[in-house]
Amino acid sequence: MTTAPAISSRLDDPESARETGRAKIDWAFEHMPILSALREEFDANQPLAGETIGMAMHVEAKTAALVETMADAGAEIAITGCNPLSTHDGVSAALDAHESITSYAERGAEGEAYYDAIDAVLAHEPTVTVDDGGDLVFRVHEDHPELIDTIIGGTEETTTGVHRLRAMDDDDALEYPVFAVNDTPMKRLFDNVHGTGESALANIAMTTNLSWAGKDVVVAGYGDCGRGVAKKAAGQNANVIVTEVEPRRALEAHMEGYDVMPMAEAAEVGDVFLTTTGNKNVITRAHFERMDDGVVLANAGHFDVEVNLDHLSELAVSEREAREGVREYELADGRRLNVLAEGRLVNLASPIGLGHPVGVMDQSFGVQAVCVREFVANREEYAAGVHNVPDELDIEIAEIKLAAEGVEYDALTDDQAEYMDSWQHGT
Ligand code: NAI
Repeated sequence: MTTAPAISSRLDDPESARETGRAKIDWAFEHMPILSALREEFDANQPLAGETIGMAMHVEAKTAALVETMADAGAEIAITGCNPLSTHDGVSAALDAHESITSYAERGAEGEAYYDAIDAVLAHEPTVTVDDGGDLVFRVHEDHPELIDTIIGGTEETTTGVHRLRAMDDDDALEYPVFAVNDTPMKRLFDNVHGTGESALANIAMTTNLSWAGKDVVVAGYGDCGRGVAKKAAGQNANVIVTEVEPRRALEAHMEGYDVMPMAEAAEVGDVFLTTTGNKNVITRAHFERMDDGVVLANAGHFDVEVNLDHLSELAVSEREAREGVREYELADGRRLNVLAEGRLVNLASPIGLGHPVGVMDQSFGVQAVCVREFVANREEYAAGVHNVPDELDIEIAEIKLAAEGVEYDALTDDQAEYMDSWQHGT
């Protein structure tokens, strides 16, 4: 049932694409001590021998390091993108050149082509799925249920994907075990907070060439990503305004010193708007109508549903590419609103689109790699449903990272350990 050809057959000059991709992957690997350590262990022990891994992820250099680590562990791998604009074709071509890897990812593949590539991955009959956003798991259940019996388990990288999986699980519709990689501390507290904070702001600044200092920056959603974005924007001397729907998060943002207000009010004061909610229709017609001339709108949530671009197109009298990656919508009264990266996640889909810093992704992908190893080693221990990443695996990744950074830390004495475990010690 292969329905899309691999990337190499679709490029005009696959050889030069591969070279560019190879250089990017090698650079990433050099700065990924966790995956490098795991790669050595995997190469020696072959923990994934005989397995086929199907992947739908942002196909760029750091992801490629994860893919090659798992290939060196003995697995066959088929991969495609999880967002139409985040694929780096050179990286995809370099992966496809590996004898154990087939890559179907191509920048710009959307709609039918996007799902054809997912079907092509599934034609390899994966025994493990590695997903970012849930499209692969969802497609298996909807269109290829015959694969479920031979799938040992899956892993999910992002908040939105874990939400979808938990909803499936609640409806008893999830038929194989999946690790919620997103939710584990070594992922969420670093990738979502620092990774999104740094890379979303960097990509907005580079795409627009505007400064943060003195700007009113509206951050929609004060979850892990929102916290990171707000903190880094404040660190660059912006005035941060937060919008929220969850009272404790709104209070947390208020106590952190940010202005908190409904989007209807924030729309009137913001210079830059960045959505990080994982929800739809966060910025709509009513908000566009109140915004100032020249505002910048960007999204860092997984899907391109947070800023309603249909509403904006309906309001606009003209649209043009004001600058690479910046679409300007002119309204009837002459105000111009600028949308970055088509409202897709700005840190990966903007023209530079490097995604998170390499060290942060080393942690996330280190967790991914040990989760896949765990499913293969202990497949009989996991029932269908969403599982938390076992604490010892999360700690394993932290220990490798601390050793690589040369950071030493204390250990509990036996006496302290006994004290912490007992309930008899009181006043
Ligand atoms: P989270 O669940 O921790 O935070 C989302 C926050 O948005 C919550 O506090 C929620 O109450 C709030 N919210 C929901 N609807 C809202 C609305 N209408 N207005 C204002 N606030 C609203 O989720 P997290 O981890 O921060 O992820 C957010 C999104 O970012 C997800 O789609 C996730 O998949 C994606 N993500 C993107 C990354 C990137 O590289 N750009 C990296 C990691 C996650």
